[in-house]
Amino acid sequence: MAKPSTPQWTHKHLLGIEDLSVGEIRMVLDTADEFFPYAAGRKPAPQVLEGRTIMNLFIEDSTRTRTSFTFAAERLGARVFQFHATTSSLNKKESLADTARNVEAMGLEAIVIRHPERNAPHRLAEAVRCSVLNAGDDSHEHPTQALLDLQAIRRRLGRIEGLTLALVGDVRHSRVARSNLLAHSKLGNRVIFVGPQVFLEDLDVQAETTTDFDAVLPQCDAVMMLRVQFERHESLVLNIDEYVRNYQLTPARLARAKPEAIVLHPGPVNRGIELTNEVADGPRSVILYQTTCGVATRMAVLSLCIGALERERACNGEDTLGQEG
Ligand code: NCD
Repeated sequence: MAKPSTPQWTHKHLLGIEDLSVGEIRMVLDTADEFFPYAAGRKPAPQVLEGRTIMNLFIEDSTRTRTSFTFAAERLGARVFQFHATTSSLNKKESLADTARNVEAMGLEAIVIRHPERNAPHRLAEAVRCSVLNAGDDSHEHPTQALLDLQAIRRRLGRIEGLTLALVGDVRHSRVARSNLLAHSKLGNRVIFVGPQVFLEDLDVQAETTTDFDAVLPQCDAVMMLRVQFERHESLVLNIDEYVRNYQLTPARLARAKPEAIVLHPGPVNRGIELTNEVADGPRSVILYQTTCGVATRMAVLSLCIGALERERACNGEDTLGQEG
């Protein structure tokens, strides 16, 4: 009997976990595992993106995500152009779509975009022909973060199903929480949003919620701590001393979790607020491991999405690298 053919990745964009099936989530993780030995950059990776150009278009601050996409693309042989919003013609009132289309006309395979408006990457994807990867839009989605978190969980716990996870803190303003909730719900895992009432009300997603962190800890296989996103709070008032008392992950609190439970955090960490130093740097923290997985995961999504783009270009009779003869 003929061997079943490997399913092919069909998305040229990665806009949200919302668009991915469980099979596609697994395909990203399997591809990320293949790239993992090259993630640290010391062993030369297969140059599958040689000759390609990627633009990092970050209209919001970033350390990990921007660096990680840059390292991932460069390690696969691509060139990366760092777009600087503050010195660009966006300041001369050019629209984002026009800016992106003009750079695209100079030769571009992918745009990695972080933007303060919800669905900005989705609108950009309609304006350009190259791949668009969402690196965070407002409090909406951050798909590569959820995928790298899954890779870290799978490599550390050995599985990504049958799990109970607590996502703790400012879940209301967190795109990381939303993308993780979507991913783990698809995988059939139990996700509990934990935090003070101000962070649990007016959620635009269906989630199990509790204000009682200590009560859920003994059930958790993974605890994901989140930063309090003061910059998104507007009129919301938070009593920070009370927050630290009830939600800071301390060694005493962590002792209530299963002995094998791991601690995640997408960064940036505010030490002394959501976590103590002992927990952030302790044996159950996978925080730095998450950033290593981030490079492997972004190698995977860049190669999968650009692969789909190039199949589309080939179908349209275009030169793979988009050049006129
Ligand atoms: C997060 C983000 O930007 O959504 N960080 C990240 O990408 N690693 C979380 C945050 O800012 O707190």
